[in-house]
Amino acid sequence: MSDITVIGLGAMGTALAEAFLNQGHAVTVWNRSPARAEALAAKGAIVAKSVEEAVRSSPLIVACLLVYDTVREVLGPSREALSGRTLVNLTNGTPEQARAMSGWAVSQGASYIDGGIMAVPPMIGGPHALILYSGSRQAFDACSGQLGALGTSKFLGEDAGLAPLYDISLLTGMYGMFAGVLQALALTGAAGIPAGEFMPLLASWLQSMQGLLPKWAEQIDSGDHTSNVVSNLGMQADAYSISSMPAGRLMSAPNSSCRCKA
Ligand SMILES: NC(=O)c1ccc[n+]([C@@H]2O[C@H](COP(=O)([O-])OP(=O)(O)OC[C@H]3O[C@@H](n4cnc5c(N)ncnc54)[C@H](OP(=O)(O)O)[C@@H]3O)[C@@H](O)[C@H]2O)c1
Repeated sequence: MSDITVIGLGAMGTALAEAFLNQGHAVTVWNRSPARAEALAAKGAIVAKSVEEAVRSSPLIVACLLVYDTVREVLGPSREALSGRTLVNLTNGTPEQARAMSGWAVSQGASYIDGGIMAVPPMIGGPHALILYSGSRQAFDACSGQLGALGTSKFLGEDAGLAPLYDISLLTGMYGMFAGVLQALALTGAAGIPAGEFMPLLASWLQSMQGLLPKWAEQIDSGDHTSNVVSNLGMQADAYSISSMPAGRLMSAPNSSCRCKA
């Protein structure tokens, strides 16, 4: 018997299995393409010959596959083996998919925990790898010591959909910021200013903007958007319509319609 089984040895699953091995856990692994298990076998992992053997090898099953359909496809034929075990699914998906997966796992007699990995593979095992979990609190408490090998754990609640909801929402904030940064660099780039020259100013500006966020949360939660307003909405809307123009159009706009300081 092993302590933990990892199913799916892509870039992320391999990093997860390595982190468990590094903490001294006995790890069984399975992957559709067996060659991906070889490096882990050299580090002490036991390679299961089938999904069923992999599931029966450990009380804790960590799945990290491409999408939820893959998880069902892979685990479905061995579902009876899940009974009495804990399934931690670290595959990315939607809250609805997580809730459906939870219902399916529980109907097989398993405890279910969903997870969202807020890190890239090289970060796994370090304190900056944040992993969000939701689902069975009892099961999480029982395996939180082992899951701690992967990074910093945050349990969000018993609704299995919470981890993917927070995961998608954090990524939405990140992608919005990335899009804004790229638009800013397109504007300055169109004027021949190298990205490396403008970036220190942009990075410091964005850092100072972060200071506003707690106040936004207060305003949104209270519903009061009118008290202590420093810059009114009409002015902000005008500034936004200029800054969201395509770079080419902004650069060719007559000076009179552009408020940019020279
Ligand atoms: N990489 C990251 O930075 C990152 C960060 C956060 C979250 N995640 C999430 O982690 C999960 C895995 O990502 P990854 O980076 O490890 O992806 P990956 O390197 O592309 O690996 C995909 C894994 O899924 C398996 N797979 C795909 N289709 C399959 C099928 N039909 N049947 C059986 N196995 C199948 C692959 O097996 P084969 O080896 O046989 O192809 C492989 O083990 C994804 O949900 C991803 O969103 C990744």
